[in-house]
Amino acid sequence: MIITKFDKTHFLNEYWQKKPCIIRGFVESFTDPIDEHELAGLAQEDEIDSRIVAYSNGKWTASQGPFETFEDVCIGAWSLLVQGVDRYIDDVDELTQLVNFIPNWRLDDVMISFSNEGAGVGPHSDEYDVFIIQGKGSRRWQVGLPGDYTESIPHPLLKQIDGFKAIIDEVLLPGDVVYIPPKHPHNGVALSDCMNYSIGFRAPSSLELLGGLIDENRIDSAVSVRYTDPELLSLRTIDTKSAAINSSELAKIKQHISQLINSEQAENALLQLLSRQSLPNDESLKADYSVEEVRNELLEGVSLARMTGVKPVYAEQQTSENFVFFIDGNAFKVNIKLNSAFDILLNNKEVSFGIDIEEDVLDNPEFVDVVTNLINTGYWVLVD
Ligand code: SIN
Ligand code: CO
Repeated sequence: MIITKFDKTHFLNEYWQKKPCIIRGFVESFTDPIDEHELAGLAQEDEIDSRIVAYSNGKWTASQGPFETFEDVCIGAWSLLVQGVDRYIDDVDELTQLVNFIPNWRLDDVMISFSNEGAGVGPHSDEYDVFIIQGKGSRRWQVGLPGDYTESIPHPLLKQIDGFKAIIDEVLLPGDVVYIPPKHPHNGVALSDCMNYSIGFRAPSSLELLGGLIDENRIDSAVSVRYTDPELLSLRTIDTKSAAINSSELAKIKQHISQLINSEQAENALLQLLSRQSLPNDESLKADYSVEEVRNELLEGVSLARMTGVKPVYAEQQTSENFVFFIDGNAFKVNIKLNSAFDILLNNKEVSFGIDIEEDVLDNPEFVDVVTNLINTGYWVLVD
């Protein structure tokens, strides 16, 4: 349960979604990419989800941000928790690279907490996997096994569980990680002022995926064909009661639905859905370059960097004449011949032409056109 030499294959085989563990020294010489003052600044923003959980005089309180002031809510032992910081701060987004052996589409966000001595959110369990990196300070983590725990709600915004037997009970130091799979009870108590970086994952339910495909009209109605049964007599006998649907008919109806799910359109709709990230809609990130300007800059050695929080998604095997990729619910389509250049662009933080990607590709108008579109949308940026 305590890993001192991290190996991603071993981790995925033994721990991922199976059992919790402590990974000592997961990040060597960890330096915090943000401090509590910057974190408090983010908690003042309307579009950022934040909360403060405090325990004082035997009483739990929780308050939802944004916060104008902190004095009345930061009482006793308190934690400030801010969601989705990877969408705003590049060095925080970089932390997600530490777990790039898990696919982008499974990543949810990086939640950062600051806690003073004795603080935490109390014993609870979550529905999702999480890697919690210890930043500055130290924190005692206790983790147990899934079970039928009694839930308590000490405050309407706070769900806790009553008591669990810890199978892990360790003090984490900067750079250490506690990995907690879904439904495993846990409790972290700060031993001094401390920062924690929770890289959280998502696991959509089949109903959520199906709902997402249907609700948002991602699949063209033309792909949805009508049910036909000219072979009705081979599905049911002439004497089958009219109110009855037999198992052959049910199998055919399910097959009818899966035809839709297996269509190329539905596959693209699914990828589009999985690429959704709720990136901030920040007009100031958008640009207005012409394709000539972009081509000239890239030829002159300016590199191309992926913007904060952008996590592309694409199907590894693509068989049509196009290579399609998705960013935050938006689809981009290029000729399949550009597949390898985009593969490099989409999987690296920063690329230069003539070094990471062959310079010749800049002679392809389609490539420069799509790259210009990515820059103007605010997904990539030119960096000197
Ligand atoms: C934290 O306080 O940083 C993590 C809270 C949790 O256990 O989910
Ligand atoms: Co938790």
